[in-house]
Amino acid sequence: MMRAPATDLPIVFDAVNLQVGDLVILDGVSLSLAAGAPTVLIGPNGSGKSTLIRLGMGLLAPSRGRITWGGHEDPDGARRAMVFQRPMMLRRSAAKNVAYALASRAGRRAVRPERIATLLDRVGLAHLADRPARRLSGGEQQRLALARALARDPEVLFLDEPTASLDPASTKAVEEIVRATAESGVKIVMATHDLGQARRLAGDVAFLVAGRMIEHAPAARFFSSPATPEGSAFLRGDLVL
Ligand SMILES: Nc1ncnc2c1ncn2[C@@H]1O[C@H](COP(=O)(O)OP(=O)(O)OP(=O)(O)O)[C@@H](O)[C@H]1O
Ligand SMILES: [Mg+2]
Repeated sequence: MMRAPATDLPIVFDAVNLQVGDLVILDGVSLSLAAGAPTVLIGPNGSGKSTLIRLGMGLLAPSRGRITWGGHEDPDGARRAMVFQRPMMLRRSAAKNVAYALASRAGRRAVRPERIATLLDRVGLAHLADRPARRLSGGEQQRLALARALARDPEVLFLDEPTASLDPASTKAVEEIVRATAESGVKIVMATHDLGQARRLAGDVAFLVAGRMIEHAPAARFFSSPATPEGSAFLRGDLVL
């Protein structure tokens, strides 16, 4: 049996292509996701952000190029967690959704009710613990998905537009959770359409257009002086195709 790698980091994309039929979804993406401040993925709809996240999670394999996790090609790591753009909820209560995530963690230690309560509290859902998860609002479901991901005690947490349907108060709450999680040493990799959020949270920014990563820079530099016309246009809010 192979020993699990001690760490999944850095996650290194080396000339990664992903093609489905004739469609090139990602084209020659090289990127290193290292420990430290959040990496934020930005770019127009369909540019490949969610796909890049799925590859980083090991849910998809590249058509060409390779991805390594902590130097290993084996993506079987229990230390990665993800919140999908449209999270799926189990047909159970909010609390049971968290309990399920806790129980499915490697080790299968007994699930302590306090742990469920703490996680629900962290995402501001303590008062909705017993509500059927599928009855929760979109924003509440997204926060519940975050609690489930945190239940896995990840080393790397991929977030695919975690605040896309949230109001400003919930967005702020999620950003605070993200910031605290990052400060606790978890590597965050997050796609967002909210440039304000990218400015607030990102250590580095990867900018994708039509499947190509055309900029990857420290956030401060990207926002103050983007290196490409596409980057400037995107920051101005112009259409980038
Ligand atoms: N399995 C697939 N088969 C065919 N096309 C796919 C597949 N997966 C993704 N695509 C296409 O690849 C492109 C990139 O999709 P992806 O979801 O990664 O974009 P995105 O940057 O996350 O967009 P958004 O901002 O809308 O979430 C899209 O045009 C999408 O339709
Ligand atoms: Mg997406």
